[in-house]
Amino acid sequence: MIGGSWMKSRYAILLAAGQGTRMKSQLPKVLHPILEKPMIEYILQALHENHITEKVAVVGHGAEQVKEVIGDQCTFVLQSEQLGTGHAVLQAEVLLKGKSGTTIVVAGDTPLIRAETFAQLIDYHESTQSAATILTANMENPFGYGRIVRNEAGMVERIVEQKDASDEEQQITEINTATYCFDNEALFEGLQHITNDNNQGEYYLTDLIEIFNRANKKVSAYVVEEAEETAGINDRAALAAASKAMKERINHTHLLNGVTMVDSDQTYIGPDVTIESDVIIYPGVEIYGKSHIAKGAEIESNSVIRDCIIGENSVIRQSVLENSKIGNEAEIGPFAHIRPETELGEHVKVGNFVEVKKSTIGNHTKLAHLSYIGDATLGKDINVGCGSITVNYDGVAKHETIIKDGAFIGCNVNLIAPVTVEENGFIAAGSTINRDVPENALAIARAKQTNKENYVKKDHK
Ligand code: UD1
Ligand code: MG
Repeated sequence: MIGGSWMKSRYAILLAAGQGTRMKSQLPKVLHPILEKPMIEYILQALHENHITEKVAVVGHGAEQVKEVIGDQCTFVLQSEQLGTGHAVLQAEVLLKGKSGTTIVVAGDTPLIRAETFAQLIDYHESTQSAATILTANMENPFGYGRIVRNEAGMVERIVEQKDASDEEQQITEINTATYCFDNEALFEGLQHITNDNNQGEYYLTDLIEIFNRANKKVSAYVVEEAEETAGINDRAALAAASKAMKERINHTHLLNGVTMVDSDQTYIGPDVTIESDVIIYPGVEIYGKSHIAKGAEIESNSVIRDCIIGENSVIRQSVLENSKIGNEAEIGPFAHIRPETELGEHVKVGNFVEVKKSTIGNHTKLAHLSYIGDATLGKDINVGCGSITVNYDGVAKHETIIKDGAFIGCNVNLIAPVTVEENGFIAAGSTINRDVPENALAIARAKQTNKENYVKKDHK
């Protein structure tokens, strides 16, 4: 993984055009998520870490969807009919033919391969000056994979697909991981010679190995240490197994970095989440997207956090938080919902059954129970009483509520937006406020109470 101008040019071809029939899904296979990140993105990340000069993705089934997810991380070529992996690679010819260097070909459905493994493969391929190097693995249960057929001298002769393999070949446990390095020029030259003369009527990329051997081009194999890394995801059972393996890998890293997990088997953390030390995570927690949890925070059971920054020593209890920023020493939940574009300051308390949406809340402000705060800006040291809400929507448009420092909002207050409560404004419980409240004023907006003496005794019984 060393960069430098002396290096050979390196290209990558990512195969992502197949439908993934065995997934039985409307979603293109390579977009199926593992810990909420599409599987193909794991491969792109690992390639990215290897300083590849040019990455080309072959798309076909669901091309538009796939392109949208991948964006500008690579260039695209279209394989309009999925005629096999060899045919798929051939589609990249328009972009890569004639260029000298190393081309790594990888299937879009092997998301567990580590960046280090790609690096070792490239290294091995380049140092042995091979025309093709196959990344292989020894699988306990090789069923479904292409098998590596070696000759008596141990050299790779060819790859035979499961459906074309003889009984004897099916006993082979060394499999093709569908990741390879090729000499780029030899790759496109060799592809001219592949046919679809096999049990699936497909143009197999794997046939290149025999073709290279016939042309006396050097074929090597690099055996991966940990076979699990190279699992190909062809159905949902394999997807579930890969999710579990990825989860364990990610959790292990966090554990070694000083994060406590009460039960790491029941902790789900996405690959792009960062967590500082002395964070405690309880069972059933899910943290995804680009979240960051600062040191000392506690995330209690069944909380779901997506794309949030959680400040130091904050405590989150059984709550759902999305695309928001929580300051230090905050207390959230139990059963709070922090919706996108919310920013909470330090020492903020958001208690049970409180929903906050697209709002900014200043330091030491408390929303302790049963509130809805939407499209609002709250200053510091404010108390919002139980059951108080912002009435932000008039059926047509959303309006803003502004509450300034030190205000006190009594219980069960409706703040009909747009409305402003100035500094230290004080609103009596049960008020429906539709006019601004001046600084230091008391606002009461509720029907006056009348007591009818002896009503119960005389008139009601
Ligand atoms: C492939 C290999 C097999 C290997 C296995 C490892 C071939 C012929 N077989 O089989 O030796 O053991 O991977 O997981 O290469 N694709 C296209 N266009 C196509 C066909 C496939 O882009 O026309 C893409 C798919 O989207 C997928 C990848 O190529 O990402 C592999 O295709 P898949 O159908 O999963 O091949 P396997 O049967 O798994
Ligand atoms: Mg596959």
